[in-house]
Amino acid sequence: MPAFDKHIFVCCNQRAPGHSRGCCDPDGSGQLRSRLKAELKRRGLGVQVRANNAGCLDQCEAGPVLVIYPQAIWYGNVQEEDVPRIVEKTILNDELIEELVIPDEVLNTKGRIRWPKTAS
Ligand code: FES
Repeated sequence: MPAFDKHIFVCCNQRAPGHSRGCCDPDGSGQLRSRLKAELKRRGLGVQVRANNAGCLDQCEAGPVLVIYPQAIWYGNVQEEDVPRIVEKTILNDELIEELVIPDEVLNTKGRIRWPKTAS
C-alpha cells in the first residue's frame, strides 16, 4: 500500500466552557474534520491524503488548529469556509495560506503571545 502524500491532523479536542485555554471543537461535533474529509473525497484525494482526528495539539489559544505533514504546516483560527482553499492551495499546490499560518514565535507559547492579533 502506498504511503499517504500528506497527513492532516485536526484538533477535535473539547473542553468545558470557560476553560482558560479554550479548545478547538467546543461543541464536540468534529465538523472541521468532517468538512475536510468531504472536500478531500470530493476532489478524489481520499487515498493520498489522510485527515485524522487529533487530541489537543497544545496550540489551543490559536484554535481551531490543524497541522499538515510532512511539511509541518501549522494553521490556526481555521474556519470551515477555509477548507476548500486549504485543499486547493496547500494540499494540491503546496502553497501556504499566510493568514492561517501560526507564526513560529507563537507556537508552543500557551497563549503568552496573542495570535491572531484580532482575536479577543
Ligand atoms: S484544544 Fe486544540 S490545540 Fe489544544
